Amino acid sequence: MPDFRSPSGTHDVLPPESARWQELVARFATTVGRAGYGLVVSPLFEEIGVFQRVGQSTDVVRKEMYDFEDKGGRHLALRPEGTAPVVRGWVQHRPSLPFKAWYAAPNFRYEHAQAGRYRQHHQLGVEVLGSEDADLDAEVVSLAWSVVAGLGLRRVELLLNSLGDGLCRPAYLDALRRHLGDRRDQLCDDHRDRVAENPLRVLDCKRDACREATAGAPLMADHLCEACRAHFERVQNGLNDLGVPWRLEPRLVRGLDYYTRTAFELAATALESAQNGVGGGGRYDGLAEAMGGPPTPGIGFGMGVERLLLACDAEGVFQISNPAVDVFVVDTAGGREALLLTAELRAAGVACDRAFDGRSMKAQFKAADRSGARVALVVGEREAAKHAVTVRDLATGNQEVVGRADVVEQVKASLGTGRGFPVSQSGALAPVFSPRTGEGGR
Ligand code: HAM
Repeated sequence: MPDFRSPSGTHDVLPPESARWQELVARFATTVGRAGYGLVVSPLFEEIGVFQRVGQSTDVVRKEMYDFEDKGGRHLALRPEGTAPVVRGWVQHRPSLPFKAWYAAPNFRYEHAQAGRYRQHHQLGVEVLGSEDADLDAEVVSLAWSVVAGLGLRRVELLLNSLGDGLCRPAYLDALRRHLGDRRDQLCDDHRDRVAENPLRVLDCKRDACREATAGAPLMADHLCEACRAHFERVQNGLNDLGVPWRLEPRLVRGLDYYTRTAFELAATALESAQNGVGGGGRYDGLAEAMGGPPTPGIGFGMGVERLLLACDAEGVFQISNPAVDVFVVDTAGGREALLLTAELRAAGVACDRAFDGRSMKAQFKAADRSGARVALVVGEREAAKHAVTVRDLATGNQEVVGRADVVEQVKASLGTGRGFPVSQSGALAPVFSPRTGEGGR
């Protein structure tokens, strides 16, 4: 017999865990929707060139892309990150500026799979095209912060840096190359050969060898041109004015090459440091042009759903349980009423469920308990004969008989007003079956 499993580095998200996903995406959509961001849904795969624009020297492009040739001979890749498709989409369709977009989407990277690092992960993100105003940076960074804070996370640090622009960065990179060139033999195996190609990455390396070699290295923050310095200062002031706590991290370089000026990361200190980035982003003022469009500044961020939830687990916050239905229909009179009542209740906006397969009353009450419903609507032979339904409060055991024609409206009204179920015991059918003890019966 086959023993199929989800591929290494991928996960199934099932209830009740999926309820947290649903709630997280809903909260994110509300938060960014209030700030004028609209949903963008882009293809799961693109021409490989779209993703090559995020940086030929990055691990994401060099080593981790799921690329393939389709049956028509096109070289495509599964999306490894969410910014490039949004920018490609803007360049292609040219909606008016500023263009404010958000997304919730899977990304694929052939990474060494481990806790918090997956081959398919999911990001919630925003991108804005069309403004280089530093106040927009403050808006974007503060939105990311408010999502994290809104989940109840307290042990998250916001790290901020500026990576300069085409004017000041080349001179800085020369200075950094010179510093690292003198210490090339001290660098770790990965970075020794790649230092000339991408010296910034060495600053971010966690290995002792690179840490020592970069101890006194020049830092971008000290080499910003006047325009970048003023921009960075206004971003910092904006965050201060908004009460968003941040820390300057002059070694922060990010793992993709398109960043200019503002770069930031949200680090969950409750998680293992190698996988504690719950989100990150920054400016990418040259990406639209690299994608074939007119020069158009851009900024955004992406947050890992899985990592956010791991951080929530580590801090014991955002523990959402599976949404319970309000009503469970128990039908031992053939099932027709269960079919009709559930449809009528749902049409009236009442969340309800039922059992199938002609189960016994005891089994149906067990299912009602498991469903989390507050109330059971019971239709046995006696109720069916009287065109009635027994409405039973599952917490107290109180019950009353209601006419079939009135039951949907009455249940809806009671749920809406928060009145208990049922309000009186008048007309209760006795003896009462107890689903919890399995005793009694009718
Ligand atoms: P990134 O830092 O590569 O940036 O990814 C953003 C977030 O996605 C990370 O902070 C992390 O939470 C999550 N993440 C990344 N890779 C994995 C993985 N293998 N397993 C689990 N979670 C992961 C970007 O992708 C940029 N597109 C963000 C951005 C948007 N910059 C500007 N706009």
